[in-house]
Amino acid sequence: MSILVTGGAGFIGGNFVLDWCSLSDELLINLDKLTYAGNLDTLATLKGRDNHVFVQGDIGDKTLLAKLLKEYKPRAVINFAAESHVDRSIHGPSDFIETNIVGTFNLLEAVRAYWNDLSGSDKQEFRFLHVSTDEVYGTLGETDEPFSEVTPYEPNSPYSASKAASDHLVRAWHHTYGLPVLTTNCSNNYGPYHFPEKLIPLVILNALAGKPLPIYGDGQQIRDWLFVKDHCAAIRRVLEAGRLGETYNVGGWNEKTNLDVVNGICALLDELKPRADGRSYAEQITYVTDRPGHDRRYAIDARKIERELGWKPLETFETGIRKTVQWYLDNQEWVQNITSGSYREWTAKQYGA
Ligand code: NAD
Ligand code: TYD
Repeated sequence: MSILVTGGAGFIGGNFVLDWCSLSDELLINLDKLTYAGNLDTLATLKGRDNHVFVQGDIGDKTLLAKLLKEYKPRAVINFAAESHVDRSIHGPSDFIETNIVGTFNLLEAVRAYWNDLSGSDKQEFRFLHVSTDEVYGTLGETDEPFSEVTPYEPNSPYSASKAASDHLVRAWHHTYGLPVLTTNCSNNYGPYHFPEKLIPLVILNALAGKPLPIYGDGQQIRDWLFVKDHCAAIRRVLEAGRLGETYNVGGWNEKTNLDVVNGICALLDELKPRADGRSYAEQITYVTDRPGHDRRYAIDARKIERELGWKPLETFETGIRKTVQWYLDNQEWVQNITSGSYREWTAKQYGA
């Protein structure tokens, strides 16, 4: 028995792979293109483990996929691979179209051909799980109900539009071809191994480096925050017991304004690693130009997955963010390796000198 995971050298996929390989002996084949967001250092503790096989490759490469599917005969494919950063999608959307839409299409076609050739219980039990985002639902007003699984899709950024397109393809492959799919739409993840171009790791690292903590616009945008290990547990549960063709919203029940998140991180750092001058890291907060088309609020109604599958998050934001800040303090080597080269180019492009 084995599973094929795509994008397993990224933030969420990497955490999923690490958890899977420590919880199970089942073979996991990890297909990742190793874009700027893919990082083999995240998987370093798996060296020598015989239930993890890493393959560098593209989800758009149908020949490679056919070969891997034939060789390993996985009972499931979990698709984490994507271009995932909204700001990058604004600077250059074409990679998002290529991987998130065309790549998902090619992956679906390769998986469909493989699944068609299966028979008996192998065919019946096979699953394709597609990992998506709450951003496909668009933006909420302050008093709107949180996104549920029946909220209409209204994506606003090139990133969310490309993810919405991939969700539609997955849905269509189920309805038209009968492919046994499951889709999860989750809120903003945070936790260990998060590439520091996203808000939470960026703020931790900039604070420690004495750099400005950039807040877009007024900082009153709201996100729901989900600890990555809780998300990985939700995916395992959906894979195990999710109903075919269904989507499950996964959230942390932690709505926070960006400013509250950043102030919370500063307070934790003030406690765990005080500034040499005794002042608060919050003094480094700097308001910068807002993101174009910036969605104001995301919130997730995660009652379906709790009701049907018994999953709910174990971490509150307070417990999860403390673990996260401590992890970054304890893993400076991982951070140093990742914040060289292309990362510097990105921060220069996005935030200027
Ligand atoms: P990430 O950017 O950290 O990692 C993406 C991984 O996919 C990288 O390892 C990269 O090398 C790989 N990849 C990119 N293009 C590829 C391709 N063409 N073929 C093979 N591999 C490729 O992203 P993440 O934060 O881990 O997100 C994982 C999934 O979860 C994505 O689908 C994303 O849309 C979704 N998601 C993320 C969040 C979040 O807060 N991070 C929230 C909701 C949904
Ligand atoms: P991000 O981590 O990029 O996730 P997403 O855009 O997918 O929600 O950003 C989280 C929020 O933080 C979002 O409202 C944008 C904001 N933000 C800043 O204010 N400053 C920053 O430097 C970054 C990267 C994000």
